[in-house]
Amino acid sequence: MSKTEDDITIEEITSPITENIKEDLKLKLVLLGDSGVGKTNLISRYISNSFDENTRATIGVEFFCKNFRINKKRTIKVEIWDTAGQERYKAITSVYYKGAKGAFIVYDITSRKTFENIDKWIGEIKERTTDDVKLIIIGNKTDLNNEREVKSEEALIKYQDMDIPLIETSALEDTNVNEAFINLIKIVYKDIARKEIEERKSISDNKISQGIDLKSIDEEEINENKESFTCCLWS
Ligand code: GTP
Repeated sequence: MSKTEDDITIEEITSPITENIKEDLKLKLVLLGDSGVGKTNLISRYISNSFDENTRATIGVEFFCKNFRINKKRTIKVEIWDTAGQERYKAITSVYYKGAKGAFIVYDITSRKTFENIDKWIGEIKERTTDDVKLIIIGNKTDLNNEREVKSEEALIKYQDMDIPLIETSALEDTNVNEAFINLIKIVYKDIARKEIEERKSISDNKISQGIDLKSIDEEEINENKESFTCCLWS
């Protein structure tokens, strides 16, 4: 039976880390979307529970980290990358996409143009990443419901067909921000766990075809690419 996202437990590791902890998994998430949709504020709400009404447009690239314990046994370091939505910073973004396992495509519910540009951002990430990157669409600024230009139903129906989850948030009022981040982490984790099982199975199958005793298969063989880390930023 396959695991659903709801079967996955995830707790943030909140104590400051002074010594290296053994990294089990590392994953990179990025935020994409037009300038001004609220990417930076969604991250600051999630990372430090703060909101800035006068945020200036992001220049360049920044990233933030959180560490989690998954299913009470594995540790996972999540890097959340923020970049400028402005077209003129497009040239710097190849480093931004590299290794991304998940992406939030953000639009502003009060701006139809930002919604219409979602397909462009989806195209951009699909083109720039080699991995099977997982997506969630965020309709931000629900606190401005009276200025809404994109109905929830319209957005839901459009992306349901593409099997991309959609969630509406307000970074200002802290609505659904945590849920959006945790959901994408779980979706990405589920995919990583599935690939690990397949990898494990393919190692076993190889050993069998080579006539090697299965008991000699060591977990470390599967985990050999994992390193140690210290986190870069704590909330
Ligand atoms: P770029 O860095 O230019 O790509 O923009 P961005 O997508 O990072 O947007 P940013 O977080 O800088 O927010 C742009 C403006 O929208 C700022 O004035 C924020 O205060 C405002 N804003 C962000 N989120 C919300 C929200 O949930 N509600 C409301 N009302 N305003 C928001």
